[in-house]
Amino acid sequence: MIISALNPDLDSVSTADVIVISYIMLATKDNGDNEIIFNAHPALVKKIEKLFAIELRDELSFFTPSGKAGELNEIPVSAADSPVEKIILLGVGDQSLASFRTAGAALGRKVRGAEKNFATIAPTKRDEIIAFATSATLGEYTWNQKTTPKPSTSEIEIVTADAAPVEYARVISSAVCRARDLIHTPANIKTPLWMANQARAIASEFGLHINVLSGASLKEFGGLRAVGNSSPKPGPRFIHLTYTPKGGKNASRIPHVVLVGKGITFDTGGISLKRPYDTMMAMKSDMAGAAAALATISAVAQLGAQVKVSVLMMCAENALSGTSQRPSDVIKHYGGKTVEVINTDAEGRLVLADGLAFADINLDPDYVVDIATLTGAATLGLGRQYAAMYTRNSQLARTIFEIGERTGDRVWHMPLIDDYTDGLESDIADLNHTADKGHYGAGSVTAALFLEQFVGDRQWVHLDIAGTARSESDSGENPKGGTGFGVRLLVEWLTSLS
Ligand code: BES
Ligand code: MN
Ligand code: ZN
Repeated sequence: MIISALNPDLDSVSTADVIVISYIMLATKDNGDNEIIFNAHPALVKKIEKLFAIELRDELSFFTPSGKAGELNEIPVSAADSPVEKIILLGVGDQSLASFRTAGAALGRKVRGAEKNFATIAPTKRDEIIAFATSATLGEYTWNQKTTPKPSTSEIEIVTADAAPVEYARVISSAVCRARDLIHTPANIKTPLWMANQARAIASEFGLHINVLSGASLKEFGGLRAVGNSSPKPGPRFIHLTYTPKGGKNASRIPHVVLVGKGITFDTGGISLKRPYDTMMAMKSDMAGAAAALATISAVAQLGAQVKVSVLMMCAENALSGTSQRPSDVIKHYGGKTVEVINTDAEGRLVLADGLAFADINLDPDYVVDIATLTGAATLGLGRQYAAMYTRNSQLARTIFEIGERTGDRVWHMPLIDDYTDGLESDIADLNHTADKGHYGAGSVTAALFLEQFVGDRQWVHLDIAGTARSESDSGENPKGGTGFGVRLLVEWLTSLS
């Protein structure tokens, strides 16, 4: 979908196919009736009413509206010399950012397949426009491999005097859709090599540096090899992208953030095979962390943010084969730590450990953030609306939590419980890779404690997005399947550092 800015005047608006006008409901003091208010650009709305000789308040009252965010009613209109065929009245609830997201998503769904231009008179403030326009694009998104002809793209034009927030929303939402495209792509196409080729295309489009390691160059990456050699053709890939901002501030003052993404292109569990087998159906999404990191760096580059960003995509397939690793194997991670493999279905932490150690040893980052569909336990704890966030830096946790609430990629700060660390002790290696010693439960927490062993003294944030990376239903902002979770959160946080 295309989103663009439109001048707030009648000449611009009346050339669309559909005009969308937002409203709110206010309780009136005297008789308890609700009053309908067209809250954005009221003078322009008056002109529209005049042009189409219509009383919008009366028309809407006919539907007995509630004013809820996303409530949508259609009114057919016509006027000489205007192509406008209908007006959609759209509830924006309490006008919170969450309400603007809900309303935007509802409009996006309405726009799916419509092949029309929608001039939209709804939010007016910067944050509102970003929330609304982004969610409209996300709500419209669909992905399929059907061979039937696709409808041509629709356009949502946001009526605003300031085009900048619309442009920002365009960058963000196309990055989220980019992540979604990668996540939806099935694993027979999406090999680690294919992922590397996607990253190469994005690197050349946005002027990023890229380096891809495979085969013998992965010698030191014991975790990535142990998992990825279960599928030796084409085998695992370490994909390293760098965005260095041009000009601007003193280069030594620019913060450097490393994003490490779990890029398991399909997770069968390996020898510790996933059961029941239908739990495997969703596992093409197990590279959602790497997809989010890649999409994020593309957006940050497009926005020209004054922050250096490195992305490490840890790409491998966790297959069941004659070259799969075995429970009880001992592997050596990047940097030298040895790990006893317990359950080959806990493969995410093995590939991430190499990436985190690589970042700590080679990249001198100010912050290391990993993003991964890591544990079913995260979904058990928080469901599908909040991702689990782990960090020792409570100030940073608060900042990221608040950005989550604002952008819609919501995260909850979880504890790194030191009492559980002894669960990771191994008799024969530096560490066990799952906490089977203490019977602590808390699978998402102990996975985080394992990862922490590889970050050195860095400022580190771990995002367990197992619950949020996929939607099991086609509703709101999300299609069934990959959501692109994390892109809005990370882009907003990274740009706030500059
Ligand atoms: N990719 C899964 C986690 C997952 C589960 C993501 C459901 C999305 C939806 C991960 O590799 C995994 O299998 N984790 C295991 C860890 C366990 C064996 C310690 C899990 O959560 O069961
Ligand atoms: Mn697994
Ligand atoms: Zn996995």
